[in-house]
Amino acid sequence: MLKSDDAAIQAAARALRTARRVVVATGAGMSQESGIPTFRDAVTGLWARYDPEQLATEAAFRRHPARVFGWYAWRRRLVRAAVPHPGYRALVALAGLVPELTIVTQNVDGLHTRVGSRQVLELHGSLERFSCVEARHPFPADRAPEPEADMECEPPRCERCGSLVRPDVVWFGELLPERVTAQAWELAASCQAMLVVGTSGLVQPAAQLPFIARDAGASVIEVNPEPTEISGLAHVVCRGRAGAVLPALVAALTEGATR
Ligand code: OAD
Repeated sequence: MLKSDDAAIQAAARALRTARRVVVATGAGMSQESGIPTFRDAVTGLWARYDPEQLATEAAFRRHPARVFGWYAWRRRLVRAAVPHPGYRALVALAGLVPELTIVTQNVDGLHTRVGSRQVLELHGSLERFSCVEARHPFPADRAPEPEADMECEPPRCERCGSLVRPDVVWFGELLPERVTAQAWELAASCQAMLVVGTSGLVQPAAQLPFIARDAGASVIEVNPEPTEISGLAHVVCRGRAGAVLPALVAALTEGATR
């Protein structure tokens, strides 16, 4: 870790040490070191011929249900095989070092919950949840077909209304889940520190969260190997990968606690 990064880590630790309410906003970059490609490069093999934005829409699902459902089954298999990197466990440890911590994620892979994070808000839904396309009636995940290979797969039908069952994720052009979004916005407006990890800050409305936090007087800390839309407003920028920076941040906080 370069000297300048240590200085950034120490500055981030100072901001977190005095915060009562902390929000951690994570994006696709948080899962990158666990082998889950970010949303925009998530296609290989059979799926390489399709642009994800052609698959992740309700219109695409209605036109080609088996193709879209098969693509999500492939992503579920990818995610289930993923091993959460040390950055995920660092966030679990961080929750024990500050009075209150909530993770607000754009990711649909469920990795934060899998490693034991308790307060997680999924702004874009989850690959492991299903509902029907007409009325969003919940559909039991253990009834969803899981094709073995990368192939198209006919979706099941809702047991209540008979319409096709879809993944319970937010598709392009769709609104975010109301309750989760209201909670996330309220936390951003009342936190004292926000850690923004692995997001380009390009996708609305999730990209508003750091601005809301900054305008509410919170310290905004970015963790990303690349500059982003958030870098300009962040008070501290840890220019590195989540799997390295987050454990270093927890170590700095823990050392500080024992001093
Ligand atoms: P993006 O793919 O737009 O941005 C990923 C960010 O992660 C980039 O800024 C990378 O520099 C950074 N990154 C890459 N590797 C990293 C690492 N090891 N550690 C930390 N950061 C790393 O992903 P998001 O900003 O999350 O929305 O936007 C993804 C959203 O766009 C998805 O949720 C999806 C899509 O539209 C919906 O499905 C509604």
